Amino acid sequence: MSGTQALKILITGGARGIGRGLFRHFLRAGHSVYVLDSNTAELEHVKKTAETWKSASSQAVWKASLCDLRDRANIKAAVEDVRITFDGKLDVLINNAMATEGVGAGRPMEDDSDEIMDDWDTKIAVGLTAPYLLGRLCVPLLKTGSSAPGSPGTIINISSTRAYQAEDNHEAYSAAKAGILGLTQSMSVSLGHRHKIRVNAVLPGWIHVMNERAEADGSSAGWEEGLTKEDADWHPAGRVGKVDDIAKAVEYLIGSGFVTGQEVVVDGGVGRKMVYPEE
Ligand SMILES: NC(=O)c1ccc[n+]([C@@H]2O[C@H](COP(=O)([O-])OP(=O)(O)OC[C@H]3O[C@@H](n4cnc5c(N)ncnc54)[C@H](O)[C@@H]3O)[C@@H](O)[C@H]2O)c1
Repeated sequence: MSGTQALKILITGGARGIGRGLFRHFLRAGHSVYVLDSNTAELEHVKKTAETWKSASSQAVWKASLCDLRDRANIKAAVEDVRITFDGKLDVLINNAMATEGVGAGRPMEDDSDEIMDDWDTKIAVGLTAPYLLGRLCVPLLKTGSSAPGSPGTIINISSTRAYQAEDNHEAYSAAKAGILGLTQSMSVSLGHRHKIRVNAVLPGWIHVMNERAEADGSSAGWEEGLTKEDADWHPAGRVGKVDDIAKAVEYLIGSGFVTGQEVVVDGGVGRKMVYPEE
């Protein structure tokens, strides 16, 4: 990143999971963070917690706002508030939010229900349309921002290894995650040539986030709570992923002024494994 420069960062889905971990990571490091999320309970909890993440001497500001990313008017209002809060400047946009749960999720595509199409609409809206609209609306802010030396603000889209590796009955999720890779590539060319704005994607594999939620804060459980030795051994890297692994990839992309339109896979090597029929 630009030396010790304090950044202004917008993170979607920052009330829980990977987004919350990124929120804490960057606020602790002295950067200002604006978080959007639709989960009221997690948002209220994170608002009570975030101030404890800041060091006493930090000048960083943070804000966590309710925003349903399925709603374009909500997104427009949120970006206007980001503009006011950050004095017209944004250094990093992280499109992280995704509807990871839902009534229609995980149903076979032959399922004859409205719920399965509602799930499709939601995942495409949150995981693909919202990053596109946010990217468009944030261009004026990112143009005056700064990431790597000599580079204006930057966009990082959180995709998934499921863009390339399928599991039964996850068509909507996979389509959104593959779609955001095409969006990343296309935006990197358009916004790069016009404004030098870099756009990259991070593809997480299995990142264990059960500790990144209000319910877990009340317990003393470590980040690896609930994982087995088999879970760890399944990964060539010897363990399941954690939020810090994603934060490191995001930091690399923020600070790398010659990297754009790229896909950084953070999956402990699972995507490189040959899979044979089970005995
Ligand atoms: N955890 C993993 O193993 C993993 C693996 C690959 C990719 N990812 C990706 O990483 C990102 C974060 O995943 P996570 O595991 O932390 O999930 P999570 O469900 O814990 O967090 C997602 C956040 O997005 C928010 N969100 C959902 N719908 C929204 C909406 N309509 N408006 C605003 N906010 C909304 C949720 O409230 C939640 O806070 C997602 O894009 C996910 O697809 C995660």
